[in-house]
Amino acid sequence: MRKAAIAIITGTGTKTFFQGGTKFRIGTPYGPSAIITLGRICNKNVALLPRHGETHEIPPHKINYRANIWALHTLNVKRILATNAVGAINLQYKPGDFIIPSDFIDFTKYRSLTFYDDAPVTHVDVSNLYCPELREHLFKSAKQKINRIWNDAVYLCTEGPRYESPAEIRMYRSFGCDVVGMTGLPEAVLAHELNICYSTLCFVSNMAAGIKKRISTDEVAEEGQKLGNIIKETLFETITHIPRKRNCICSRALEGARV
Ligand code: HPA
Repeated sequence: MRKAAIAIITGTGTKTFFQGGTKFRIGTPYGPSAIITLGRICNKNVALLPRHGETHEIPPHKINYRANIWALHTLNVKRILATNAVGAINLQYKPGDFIIPSDFIDFTKYRSLTFYDDAPVTHVDVSNLYCPELREHLFKSAKQKINRIWNDAVYLCTEGPRYESPAEIRMYRSFGCDVVGMTGLPEAVLAHELNICYSTLCFVSNMAAGIKKRISTDEVAEEGQKLGNIIKETLFETITHIPRKRNCICSRALEGARV
């Protein structure tokens, strides 16, 4: 039977994560998931899901976030380690830095954002959306490999696929956002709605709009390629050291949520 307690959701650059592994899609009430590879990392079953598809053919606003998270849930996944490319809004950050968000602002517009569209009406608490336990393990592993790593950042998600305007970035900075990406939400919220722990390792691929003259997708991709190995090693190290038993309250995220 296909099962994994841990999943990795990435942008691109996952070709070297597993040698072998089994590939499949999972049909869900929300449509088919992206292709998932089930393999072994440090003696643990791990499900790997590149959210843009294997050849980066799905743009951020067209990713079927609900199908992907539901599919991982059916594999019995209890923890998700994600990665995201981000633009830096915080002027202390620079390309090549790593960030582990502790909070978020959701400026997406048209995405299916919940599993709870019907009764019972459900309002999930997102005071600790990013699992504190998983974040701590990710941070510890990252610190061994990465000089410039920031904890406690606010992740902003925009709808995309365009980059932001300089005026938007000035506004977002005044709101307290540190980094901006297009794929972190509603992915993290959907995981929380199914009691799955979620944490993400973001890497700064560029300064956000208005800080430099322009943003090019090439610079974003190049930074991703440069940092691919460190990302992989950090995730593997985290998976090696994370205890099997969860000591957080993510498994009770729905307590007190239903009307
Ligand atoms: N904006 C939005 N998403 C991004 C950026 C950005 O500047 N860089 C990488 N992903």
